[in-house]
Amino acid sequence: MNPSSAANDLPILLDADRIANRIREMAADISRDYRDRTPHLVGVLKGAWVFMADLVRSISIHCTVDFLSIQSYGSGTVSSGEVKITKDLDVSIEGRDVLLVEDILDTGRTYSYLQEILGAHDPASLKLATLLDKHSRRILPVEADYVGFEIPDVFVVGYGLDFDQKYRNLNDVRYIPQPQTLFLFGKETPKPE
Ligand code: IMP
Ligand code: MG
Repeated sequence: MNPSSAANDLPILLDADRIANRIREMAADISRDYRDRTPHLVGVLKGAWVFMADLVRSISIHCTVDFLSIQSYGSGTVSSGEVKITKDLDVSIEGRDVLLVEDILDTGRTYSYLQEILGAHDPASLKLATLLDKHSRRILPVEADYVGFEIPDVFVVGYGLDFDQKYRNLNDVRYIPQPQTLFLFGKETPKPE
């Protein structure tokens, strides 16, 4: 297998139906928990855009949306340990109930950084909804408030998630199977700072 293999050769971890069902449940929880408020959903580009689009359409209360873009990984899968904002929020979050929307919570570096940066703008509350949680890889002690699926330590693509900017268009979440392949893909386990 190499990075240009057909996308459909990769094994499925979570199929589209399962994802859709779980997102409806998450949206119901969010609609209930924020029922007297208007949550401000902030999607983290680019990985979260597909999840965000499905999640908001199942939310039954008023909500507003914004996006920010960050860079936490380069073109491969080796974490630089560095996170920077490459597209900032369009509107102020002061006094808002901010719900960050992420594709995946991995080491926790990104969320930890965003908690610090966004927290400094005085939101009324700041929570996280993530589709996937690779809990076993956590380096920093952060937890998501809404989790779609806890998954094992495999590199996943599809449903918005990429490898080298590709595979985002897949309907299912798929994974890159063997450790040897991960080596070929340049993946190494990020070291704690
Ligand atoms: P963290 O800062 O280590 O928690 O990493 C979060 C970000 O790393 C995610 O938003 C993804 O962009 C990226 N990431 C982590 N694991 C994967 C994966 O298995 N596939 C694709 N992207 C991943
Ligand atoms: Mg991301």
